Amino acid sequence: MAKLTPEIEQYTQQLRGKLQEAGYAYYVLDNPIMEDAVYDRLLRELQELETQYPQLIVPDSPTQRVGAKPATKFVSVKHNIPLYSLENAFNIQELKSWQERWKSQNSKFKIQKLEVKTQNYDLNNGSHSDEIDLGNIDYVCELKIDGSALALTYENGLLIRGATRGDGIMGEDITQNVKTINSIPLKLKIDNPPAIVEVRGEAFLSVNVFENINTEREKIGETLFANPRNAAAGTLRQLDSKIVAQRRLDFFAYTLYLEENKSEFSEFSTQWEYLELLQKLGFKVNPNRKLCSSLDEVAAYYQFWDKERKNLPYLTDGVVVKLNYLPLQKKLGFTQKFPRWAIALKYPAEEIPTIVQAVTVQVGRTGALTPVAELKPVQLAGTTVQRASLHNSDRLAELDLHIGDTVIVRKAGEIIPEVVRVLPELRPTDAKRFQMPTHCPECSQPVIKPRDEAVTRCINASCPAILRGSLAHWASRGALDINGLGEKLVQQLVNGGLVKSVADLYNLTVEDLTTLERMGEKSASKLVEAIATSKAQPWGRVLYGLGIRHVGSVNAELLTQKFPTVAQLGQAKVTDIESVYGIGSEIAQSVEQWFRVPANQNLVAGLETAGVTLETKDSTDNVEKVESSFLVGKTFVLTGTLPTLKRDEAKSLIQNSGGKVTSSVSSKTDFVVVGEDAGSKLEKAKKLGVKQLSEAELLEMLEVRS
Ligand code: IVH
Repeated sequence: MAKLTPEIEQYTQQLRGKLQEAGYAYYVLDNPIMEDAVYDRLLRELQELETQYPQLIVPDSPTQRVGAKPATKFVSVKHNIPLYSLENAFNIQELKSWQERWKSQNSKFKIQKLEVKTQNYDLNNGSHSDEIDLGNIDYVCELKIDGSALALTYENGLLIRGATRGDGIMGEDITQNVKTINSIPLKLKIDNPPAIVEVRGEAFLSVNVFENINTEREKIGETLFANPRNAAAGTLRQLDSKIVAQRRLDFFAYTLYLEENKSEFSEFSTQWEYLELLQKLGFKVNPNRKLCSSLDEVAAYYQFWDKERKNLPYLTDGVVVKLNYLPLQKKLGFTQKFPRWAIALKYPAEEIPTIVQAVTVQVGRTGALTPVAELKPVQLAGTTVQRASLHNSDRLAELDLHIGDTVIVRKAGEIIPEVVRVLPELRPTDAKRFQMPTHCPECSQPVIKPRDEAVTRCINASCPAILRGSLAHWASRGALDINGLGEKLVQQLVNGGLVKSVADLYNLTVEDLTTLERMGEKSASKLVEAIATSKAQPWGRVLYGLGIRHVGSVNAELLTQKFPTVAQLGQAKVTDIESVYGIGSEIAQSVEQWFRVPANQNLVAGLETAGVTLETKDSTDNVEKVESSFLVGKTFVLTGTLPTLKRDEAKSLIQNSGGKVTSSVSSKTDFVVVGEDAGSKLEKAKKLGVKQLSEAELLEMLEVRS
């Protein structure tokens, strides 16, 4: 190894300092001080020095942003402080009623309820139990950035963790990816920062970057991202951080949490000061914020940005209004989901006229035919729209859509825009009404439309579109999770006749696969291996992967508890199936019918021959349950008589979702489920500030609805 001299060390430090300053000026201040080419050259020089003298690498070096080795999966992490979402208001009237609500709560809540207790952070503590004088109320108004929330943790000034929101309680550790976002400081920009700083904000893609990504994806035949929000969320969950680094995500910080009484900043009394502090710490804080002293001013801000937002380089779907005075925030606290002291005032979905040039029909995994309007491209909510869903034939009839019609399309930040209405007065005289086809556009077999359903369906079990959809679902993350088997490849396999049913996947050889375009030997053997590995996925995932109508992952999990083998489920009667708690009769009928279809019986036989797991294997299934479910690590205590669930039923529902049920309340208890005549456990839970749930809230949390 070359000898490290003090001169080299000093030079490296200088180089790093220059690059850090230039990066900050470019990415955070939006005010470049160095030519791009010079920056690239200096960065390369620093990289070379660090390769030669690895002892010079520091965690906040700009070289640490370029992406690390791809991860195999993300680890779930519990947020130190939950990530709340915001209540929505859609007009000024609703904003006013929010104001009335918190004003009345301010006078009502003499004693603050302890609702959330998270480590040392004190979000709700009732130290300010007196009514707060509402003489001068200021509101912080910010743009609501349409991206993906991030939770960042800094320890002694260094970024040690970046996590996705997840369900607000548990997220995924995506630190490697977060480090590639240039506007997120790797090290806080002040001397002696507080020991722990939690920062919250929104990662997003500018509309320009988003469109470039899609153009590239189109070129290589990848499916397009529907909007910048999906693209940002998808990018953050990329396993390969090198790809993330290329995608140029950006970040606006909007909140920070400090440990109580541990630094000079704990003395702050307003949200506005926190925003300024975030800026001092090196974050990008949206410059379009405003401190308003009345709701009229808030309304003016909202209206101003409704007009102006189309000129912003990123998307915003509303305005976030927060009470500025922190003691008041503390006093009002949180509901189960939202802070009481903030609200999102959303903009209505955008609408715009355009012309329907054609209507195409897509066939999904369940055989459902969806008509899609092919539009003259228009700019809407910051993106180019050229297709819009027409849902089904009932909707078509309602719209009375003709090809050539001028229609109004709407986009509510959703996956695919929709046609809201037709303008018949602008219809060309020769325009033809669009009729749903009588035959499947994919396999030419006749389609059916049951009288009581809106959906037209292809019922040909070997229809290539249904097969493609089934394969893609089988390979998806929640099902068999076969890495590398994406939509494009599925299409090639089906078109090439290599796969005629899901079971055929397990007979594919490297030789078969290398006959496909752009498939080398290495990727082919990787895929064969991934397919073989999937055989060990637990029975619950396999059942979900079969794609039986109404059997989502939660229902599949419930069914496999009662029916530990495919044979038992296949022979079960509707009455047996619906006796599973959480499974209603519609689901039960759908399951029974599915197993009666000969093609499905053949599929099960084929999977059995291939060696796919079709029964509960204790050890693997337990591991899986724990990994896949969101209640992992959560401890529950049940107390009192619940309105509908027996104690055992509630217990097994919680356990099925990965949670733990214990008999006594302690500081480790996350939730206490409270029924009628609850006794001392409830008292203790109240004392310890353990969150209480009713049966309904528990079921909502578990997403169990019959
Ligand atoms: S404040 C307790 N401020 O909107 C604080 N959220 O619907 C809650 N968002 O998940 C969030 N811009 O990801 C806040 N300026 C802003 C925001 C913002 C975007 C997102 C955030 C949250 C969602 C809530």
